[in-house]
Amino acid sequence: LNNGLALTPPMGWSTWNVFHCDYNETDLMGMADAMVASGMLSAGYKYLNIDDCWEAASRDPVSGMLKYNETRFPHGISALADYIHSKGLLFGIYTSSGEWTCQRYPGSWQHEYLDAALFASWKVDFVKLDCCYQDNVKDRATAFIRWSQALTSQNRSILYSCDSDELILNENNQEFPSQWAPNYCNMARIWWDISDKWETIMNIIDHSANIYYASGPGYWNDLDILTVGLGRQTLVEYMTQFSLWSVISSPLIAGNDIRKMSKEVGEILMNKEVIAINQDKLGRSGNMIHRAVDGSYEIWAKPIYHENTSQIQTAIHSLGFTPLPRHAVVLFNRRDSITNITLEFDDLFDHRLSPHPPTPTWTASVRDLWLHEDLGQFTETWTATNIPGH
Ligand code: GLA
Repeated sequence: LNNGLALTPPMGWSTWNVFHCDYNETDLMGMADAMVASGMLSAGYKYLNIDDCWEAASRDPVSGMLKYNETRFPHGISALADYIHSKGLLFGIYTSSGEWTCQRYPGSWQHEYLDAALFASWKVDFVKLDCCYQDNVKDRATAFIRWSQALTSQNRSILYSCDSDELILNENNQEFPSQWAPNYCNMARIWWDISDKWETIMNIIDHSANIYYASGPGYWNDLDILTVGLGRQTLVEYMTQFSLWSVISSPLIAGNDIRKMSKEVGEILMNKEVIAINQDKLGRSGNMIHRAVDGSYEIWAKPIYHENTSQIQTAIHSLGFTPLPRHAVVLFNRRDSITNITLEFDDLFDHRLSPHPPTPTWTASVRDLWLHEDLGQFTETWTATNIPGH
């Protein structure tokens, strides 16, 4: 969506993974304080997003407006937004395109402009639109597009986060988010809900290959709110999740309790070098470039900005390549036990333009962004040894 927002993948925090429906304004003010005190805001996490369950049980019978739950928010959403803004953070909210939200609070069907105006009056900076209670995929398309127009017509910059599953835009043609969402949304969920389990993370990753072309400044494929720090996976598994989300250029929306974050979890979520890969200004998204025949490992890679990009590109272009000189690479061990993985530098280059190019000898400097160490110069390949399981 060309609204000047999400020029790099959005970063923030959301209530859903840690609280589900169990939160109130005190929790959120505490979270805002913790986002500043922990260094999360300085690391780039600027949106504080309320997911489902902020709503009252019904709309106002007279005005038809959405209402907030007065028990959870005794001072109102507008006051909470002011508090969040006073901390230097931005404020996000949630609704559904259907008649009800997923937790069965009033949804926004046929109230799109009214609700967008209400959110703008509350100084909302981010809207996540869900699609529960709307099985008609044509109506869902109407709602998602109407919301896009309703938000861009407000006198306020509001990031539009879509969670639509499939929908029908053209006669009978079921379309996936990575096909239609880049024109209408700043980010869109590409798969079902995350949970803090290895198998779920793998399921999301399995649906993240070969949709990289859709992502770029203004729109990013959304792998869902991170589970890093929720506590049901190991630190290594969380490093893997964070590395993959970063190389795939997914939005980085933390989902853990920042008020009680351990040092180790903080070091994962605030690894500046890995965040820099996610936020890289070349604006590309990574893709899976290699998979072991038995599926035991995968290599994911993303081209990264380099000050000589165009110069080097032109020079090597004459050889028939379209290489980019710097890449972020994830050597991803899917097995339960340790393994070695070899990256062939040649696999980083796109040979499609010239099927049988003369292959030069590649030399590359390798840096480990988790150890924060330069590992030296290597020719043709680099092998990582003793990569832990998962
Ligand atoms: C759906 C969404 C989740 C979350 C819940 C809230 O399941 O996919 O991300 O927003 O609804 O009810």
